[in-house]
Amino acid sequence: MLVLVVAVAVVTGGGWCFVDGRHVRNIDSNGISVLGGDFNHDSVFPRFAEPIPNVTVTVGRDALLACVVDNLRTFKVAWVRVDTQTILSIHHNVITQNPRISLSYNDHRSWYLHIKNVQEVDRGWYMCQVNTDPMRSRQGYLQVVVPPSIIDKETSSDMVVLESSNVSLTCKATGYPDPYVMWRREDGEDIRYNGENVNVVDGEILFITKVSRLHMAVYLCIASNGVPPSISKRVQLKVQFPPMLSIPNQLEGAYIGQDVTLECRTEAFPTSINYWTTERGDMIISGSDKYEAVSMDNGYKKYMMLKIRRVNKSDFGSYKCVAKNSLGETDGVIKLEEIPAPTTTKATSHLVATPSIKKGVARGLEKGRNDNRVDFGGDPEDSRIPADYEYDSEYTLSSSGPPPIREPPFALSGAAHCPQPSSTFFFFAFFFFLRAVLARQEDRR
Ligand SMILES: *[C@@H]1O[C@H](CO)[C@@H](O)[C@H](O)[C@H]1NC(C)=O
Ligand SMILES: *[C@@H]1O[C@H](CO)[C@@H](O)[C@H](O)[C@H]1NC(C)=O
Ligand SMILES: *[C@@H]1O[C@H](CO)[C@@H](O)[C@H](O)[C@H]1NC(C)=O
Repeated sequence: MLVLVVAVAVVTGGGWCFVDGRHVRNIDSNGISVLGGDFNHDSVFPRFAEPIPNVTVTVGRDALLACVVDNLRTFKVAWVRVDTQTILSIHHNVITQNPRISLSYNDHRSWYLHIKNVQEVDRGWYMCQVNTDPMRSRQGYLQVVVPPSIIDKETSSDMVVLESSNVSLTCKATGYPDPYVMWRREDGEDIRYNGENVNVVDGEILFITKVSRLHMAVYLCIASNGVPPSISKRVQLKVQFPPMLSIPNQLEGAYIGQDVTLECRTEAFPTSINYWTTERGDMIISGSDKYEAVSMDNGYKKYMMLKIRRVNKSDFGSYKCVAKNSLGETDGVIKLEEIPAPTTTKATSHLVATPSIKKGVARGLEKGRNDNRVDFGGDPEDSRIPADYEYDSEYTLSSSGPPPIREPPFALSGAAHCPQPSSTFFFFAFFFFLRAVLARQEDRR
């Protein structure tokens, strides 16, 4: 008999209904039947047992909308899609052509609309109607949420830039609701951003003015909108710069027969090739009885050591450490000078007094790095990017006074830079005192 049902959609002022073939009525704009009806016998008429619950579904999942009607008797229930004005089902029949939609029912009371593999187009109001006169209906909202995804085409990929240039990393994401997008470093370190250190930068664009080597990192663009899973994309930022070099001690003292180690620190990206040469420019080959060159890498930083074993007269002179990459080359000179051999154990123990000064400076260097400054091995108060040869003060110091006494090899790791004036004074006072003592001992012999 239901074959007779002709789905005639009648748009009325307030809403929407269908009228089946057997009960064609005109319905005025207030939804009140013109021909009149039995709607004053409410108790025996169909009644919605409960509102249609709103349903929130993640795209791709299945949705179920329920309509429960008491006293339905011979009336029929239909499901209607409100915004497209589409009749989806009437009584036991699915009307829509949409293959993802199906119907189930229970006890002539509960009517379920099933939507498989929900899509964003399914988002909207769904109405359950009963063909009373006037038509009775309830509607519920199907919310379709979409987890965030990153639009690869509009999102930055790995970048290589020159230091001091401006860099813009972009991240675009879609999803429903609109995702929130942020940037942070994969290693969890803060980002130097507009003069501040921040852990997270909100928004699609990470714009770094005057990028520094400290910005070299893997960045994560993270998009989230409350619909799991959140998503992220890795973007690696590489910052290129020519080699820079600093030398903790430009003047080394050693006595005949001693082993001595020269040190040099460099920074470069792309990674530099580093080596040592003699005064004449001959490259020093590591691994001989005489020389052992060691280089330790930490990101774009290198720490070079040249150990010279059993120093003899011909070893005194200048040594050069050299760093080269595609953007440039730099070198630094370390002078190895002879000092008198210590003659008493007492003097040796005094020699160890120097590291405390150096450690102080080493802390300064550490602080400089936490401040995200780009200077290297310099005074922490000085935020300039040091030129390769900014160590004149040490040269001056060394030419006007006797050579500094080398600290023992175990103290190497913390060694850094020039002593402060007050400690320098103390240092010389001590040195002259030591020399006087040694001279007197010499005289006594
Ligand atoms: C369904 O959501 C709409 C707004 O989207 C709200 O006005 C209505 O009260 C909700 N209905 C239920 C049963 O929660
Ligand atoms: C980098 O950005 C800053 C601030 O927006 C601007 O003043 C400067 O001119 C830019 N530099 C370059 C090289 O584009
Ligand atoms: C110093 O050492 C070098 C290299 O081991 C050697 O060739 C040279 O003969 C030595 N000179 C003296 C004076 O012992």
